[in-house]
Amino acid sequence: MKDLKLAILGYGDAGRAYGSLLNNKEAEIRDKYGVAIKVTAIATGSHGTLIDPDGIDLHNVEEELANRGEKLDQAGLYVAQNANYDALLELTPLNIFTGQPAINHIKAAFGRGKHAITANKGPIAWAFRELREMSVEGGCQFYYETTVMDGTPIFNLVSDTLKMCNVTAIDGILNSTTNYLLEELAKGVPYDEAMEEGRRRGFVETDPSMDVEGWDAAAKLTALMNVLMDAGITPDKIIRKGIDGISADEIAEAAENGKVIKLLCNGKFDGGTATGTVMPALLDRTELLATISGTSSAVSISTDLMGKVTIVEHDPEIEQTAYGVFSDTLRLIEGICQIK
Ligand SMILES: NC(=O)c1ccc[n+]([C@@H]2O[C@H](COP(=O)([O-])OP(=O)(O)OC[C@H]3O[C@@H](n4cnc5c(N)ncnc54)[C@H](OP(=O)(O)O)[C@@H]3O)[C@@H](O)[C@H]2O)c1
Repeated sequence: MKDLKLAILGYGDAGRAYGSLLNNKEAEIRDKYGVAIKVTAIATGSHGTLIDPDGIDLHNVEEELANRGEKLDQAGLYVAQNANYDALLELTPLNIFTGQPAINHIKAAFGRGKHAITANKGPIAWAFRELREMSVEGGCQFYYETTVMDGTPIFNLVSDTLKMCNVTAIDGILNSTTNYLLEELAKGVPYDEAMEEGRRRGFVETDPSMDVEGWDAAAKLTALMNVLMDAGITPDKIIRKGIDGISADEIAEAAENGKVIKLLCNGKFDGGTATGTVMPALLDRTELLATISGTSSAVSISTDLMGKVTIVEHDPEIEQTAYGVFSDTLRLIEGICQIK
């Protein structure tokens, strides 16, 4: 039986859901792959850090953090640079304007020849080429499926199944908060009421401005363009307009004409210029993307060999986020098993 030692940076909603999935699947992973997963470090921002080469019991992380969590400055970076692990899991909060400190966490891992998995899209939106190069040079595996649409396979779909296809365009609805809000406004629900209900259900942030102004969608589009088209762009280069200027009257008028307003993402790259836009758009209500409802998301990938392929994530919960990180963990294990 081989060990796979993991260091988890960030143990919030995604980290906890991942921990619980690992607990459920640990025995199956041992049976199927002959690999025992051992979490040797968990870092948080303000709730302390656990480092234990013998492995942390994932059934009691909150209690362990409270009892013996060490308070460290820059805990994520400290763990990435010093703990004993094979793979780093980057689950710290997104900084949409810089991608930091997550970029530095992953660089520290690659600098030590360690593998990395990120659910945080900052590094993919701001530093994908550099990180990819570092991972290749260091012989490290690097996975990031969760950064767009949770565990829905988009990056894996292209790399594993659409072999030798060039991606020529990306269209999608990538932000659940704005999709939900536009739909509620169309039903006549007042903006503040829709926001409050979204907060109550847990998918609208206390400060929703990054969603409403289109930044979150821009970061996801950038990640898609960087990985699928090698566009080498950053979120600030996306031509961006949010939904904050859209009135209930405009939405009602669109409905009278058989249309819906959606916050659409579009990316194109001709090998020279990368063009990405996030904009409210009027869609005929029979169009596929017009039917994406509530907190669901969808992305259409246009390719040279396989035409257009669309994948939809229906009403995701935190378990689908955890699955994204889990599926990357399995790819890592499969990669390691192949090498050995
Ligand atoms: N939640 C989702 O549905 C979802 C879906 C896809 C992708 N993601 C991405 O996954 C990541 C985690 O999301 P989440 O929902 O779990 O966030 P969250 O609930 O806010 O948890 C973030 C965790 O990171 C810790 N942290 C903050 N700064 C840190 C640092 N410098 N070093 C180490 N740990 C640090 C926090 O600790 P303290 O609480 O002590 O500050 C907390 O444990 C984000 O990048 C997010 O964009 C989330």
